[in-house]
Formats: sequence, structure tokens, C-alpha cells
Amino acid sequence: MNLELKDKVAVVAGASRGIGLSIAQSLSREGCKVLICARNAETLDNAASFVRESGGDTETLVLDITDKNAGALLVEKALSDFGQIDIYVGSAGGNRRKPFADTTDSDWHEIMDINFHAHARCSRAIIPAMRDAGGGAITFISSIFGREAGGPGLSIYNATKSALISLAKIMAIELGADGIRVNTVAPGSIRYPGGSWDRRCMEDPEGMAKFIQENLPMGRFGNAEEVADVVAFLSSARASWISGACITVDGVQSRSLI
Ligand SMILES: NC(=O)c1ccc[n+]([C@@H]2O[C@H](COP(=O)([O-])OP(=O)(O)OC[C@H]3O[C@@H](n4cnc5c(N)ncnc54)[C@H](OP(=O)(O)O)[C@@H]3O)[C@@H](O)[C@H]2O)c1
Repeated sequence: MNLELKDKVAVVAGASRGIGLSIAQSLSREGCKVLICARNAETLDNAASFVRESGGDTETLVLDITDKNAGALLVEKALSDFGQIDIYVGSAGGNRRKPFADTTDSDWHEIMDINFHAHARCSRAIIPAMRDAGGGAITFISSIFGREAGGPGLSIYNATKSALISLAKIMAIELGADGIRVNTVAPGSIRYPGGSWDRRCMEDPEGMAKFIQENLPMGRFGNAEEVADVVAFLSSARASWISGACITVDGVQSRSLI
């Protein structure tokens, strides 16, 4: 299948490691020009060299996407380097695991900011450029715990990831006439070197073996590439009739029927 992504311009927010980096690599492999951003300059530069190995032009922007002017800065950089924007992927996210009764306003603000406001703000800033390009594709990385209950301690994460799915649906309705598709991807537990599941596997191999047995019917964690390739497909013309959808990528970890 030809995804027809050659020379499309993609902005991936939160792409110096993990799922975001894999998404940038996958898009690059398909011929996209990619702008990646993250806060740590050194990690971002390393990531850019991996992405360049995957394909073509890659630029970086050291940026905290929770900053109020982050969207404008991303647009300015992408347009000056590549002249257009066709794809936005909002990948960076965070978690604050604690009982709801113990959560504070600052916990809520911080995680709402990175999981929701930042991607709302950045994608909103990019819409005019997508309209100029004649359309585009926006994908937010949510979670299976935006679709169903994650359990105790996950009130903030669950609520913010559900909000992202809601936002994408309404954006998809409003932007359909502009040829802009908006979707979310809901990964299950994804293990990559240095990621949180990787750390937990090192620290508690027996506990994690039990977790796999009880929660992951395919007997393993997912990997970042398995999420990234779905995002590349959703970003492509091959997914032209998919908008407002939330695609689960979890090896049947979640229990929701829809
Ligand atoms: N891993 C999983 O099992 C899993 C499962 C379901 C859903 N998800 C979701 O998938 C997404 C990616 O998760 P992940 O585990 O790969 O990594 P992550 O820890 O969410 O994000 C890593 C990337 O985002 C950047 N980042 C974080 N905060 C940022 C900020 N304020 N501004 C700009 N960049 C920022 C990080 O670089 P810097 O720290 O240098 O900024 C890094 O490049 C998240 O939304 C997460 O909730 C993950």
C-alpha cells in the first residue's frame, strides 16, 4: 500500500523518545518532512539523528508545548523550514497517579495542561496552515484509559485522556468541510527502552510477569512501532474516510466492546 506521504510535512509534539519518536520515524520512513519537538535539547538532537536515518528532512524545536505561545512557535518553525503543514501528531503526555481525594489543583492543572490543553492549543494554531494546504490530518495520542476506566489512582489521567477523545470528535465534525481529519489513537501498555513499563519490568520482573498474565492476552507488551505505524496510516490519504474515530492499539488489553 502506498500511503502517499512523500513530501508531506508533519509536526510531532513530544518526539524525542518513546511513542512520539517512533511516530516521527514511521512518518519519515514514508517520505514525510518532520518537525519534532521536546523540552530537552540533547535528547531531541539524538532523536533527530535517528529520524534522519529513517528518511528525509527532519528539523527540531526545543519547546515546552504547555507554554501559551507553543502553537505559534511550532507553526512559525514548520512554515519557515518546510513551507506547509499537513500533519499534526500530539503525543506528549503525563500521569499523576494518586487517589482522587488526595489530588490537588496543581496536579490537575499540570496534567490537564500536558495531556489536553497543549494539544488543543497546538492543533488550533496549525488549522490555518492546514486550510492553506487544502486539508490535513490531526492525531492525538490518548490511551485505552480514555475509553474505559483505568482503575483507582487514575482519575486525572482517565479524565484528561477521555477529554482528548471528545475534543477530537468535535474538531472532526467542525473541520470535515476543510478536508481536515481528526482522530485519536488509544494505546495499551507500550514498552520501550527507558520508558515507564521498561523501568517497572527491571524493578519488579515477577510483578510484571503477573501483570502480563492478567492483563495482556497476547502475552507481551506492545511496542512503540506498533502504535506509530497506525498513526502513519491515519495521517495518510489511505485513511481518507476515517475521522472522529478512536483507534485502539492494545493487543486486546482493554475490555470495551466499542
Ligand atoms: N507508554 C505507554 O504505555 C502509553 C500507553 C498509553 C498511552 N500513552 C500515551 O502515549 C503518549 C506518549 O507516551 P510515551 O510513554 O511514549 O512518552 P511520554 O513520556 O508521554 O513523552 C515523551 C516525549 O514527550 C516529550 N515531552 C514531555 N513533556 C513535554 C512538554 N511539556 N513539551 C514538549 N515535549 C514534551 C518528552 O521529551 P522532554 O521530556 O525532553 O520534553 C519526550 O520526547 C503519551 O500521551 C502517553 O500518555 C502511553
